[in-house]
Amino acid sequence: MVSAKSFLLAALAAGTYASPCKSLTPTLPGTGTTSLPAPAPTELFRRIAIGHGIQNYSCESSTSTPVQLGALAALYDVTPLYPGTPRTGLSKAAFDALPITTLYGQSIPLNLVDPTVNYNAVVGNPWVAPADLVLGGLPTIKFLGHHFFEIDNTPMFDLTAAGLKASVARNDSAAAPATADKGILGTGAVPWLQLTESNKNRSNGLNLVYRVVTAGGVAQSCLTTGAGVGSVPYTTFYWFYAA
Ligand SMILES: *[C@@H]1O[C@H](CO)[C@@H](O)[C@H](O)[C@H]1NC(C)=O
Ligand SMILES: *[C@@H]1O[C@H](CO)[C@@H](O)[C@H](O)[C@H]1NC(C)=O
Ligand SMILES: *[C@@H]1O[C@H](CO)[C@@H](O)[C@H](O)[C@H]1NC(C)=O
Repeated sequence: MVSAKSFLLAALAAGTYASPCKSLTPTLPGTGTTSLPAPAPTELFRRIAIGHGIQNYSCESSTSTPVQLGALAALYDVTPLYPGTPRTGLSKAAFDALPITTLYGQSIPLNLVDPTVNYNAVVGNPWVAPADLVLGGLPTIKFLGHHFFEIDNTPMFDLTAAGLKASVARNDSAAAPATADKGILGTGAVPWLQLTESNKNRSNGLNLVYRVVTAGGVAQSCLTTGAGVGSVPYTTFYWFYAA
């Protein structure tokens, strides 16, 4: 005769039931074809953010190949919306659509030089006042921080609202799925990435970042932009981990 308690404990150990006390650990999505290296078992899930901003590129001339300069994006905390989260979780379809919903439903949360001309941000002063993300029919999504490239081209995620920082470098990439949204300029979705610790002693409480479910962000051809900087709107999920 098995007691109810020992039955429940056995079921929990076997993973049959999710424990109501244990918080849910989200599972990183895959592209369906190429897999990025999975987080090591020692990595602890920390946050999922929506990033909304620009990828910027430079063209030497109209016949050259665009070279990535960096990226600028505001980050919003969608961790509470992850499907299955008690009370606040969205349906999988609504959650997975957040990058597209944000890309087409919100103006770019950056100080743009002249949005009637292009998507270039003001150099040295690209940020607007931090504000939460309000998408129709969804709970308010809290502002989390900023993503940018530092002076030495090192990607930084400064999660000011959480007191966390990730200074990282590209370790691996996977092409976005063929069905990914090509973005406002129709250029395509930037690859999914695994970004690992830069070892520049700039991180705080984070050491691993993934960019997944990208929409937009691929450079325009230099023939279109001519010489100079070209910025392309994008959204994505960033997943953050700590060792
Ligand atoms: C391109 O992005 C970087 C940040 O990643 C930013 O520092 C720089 O000002 C941007 N350049 C232009 C010309 O917009
Ligand atoms: C970095 O990428 C390589 C393969 O591209 C992989 O073998 C390695 O495990 C990755 N590093 C981490 C920390 O996951
Ligand atoms: C790392 O940075 C902290 C503060 O930002 C500093 O106190 C410490 O000395 C640095 N460590 C190394 C090895 O540079």
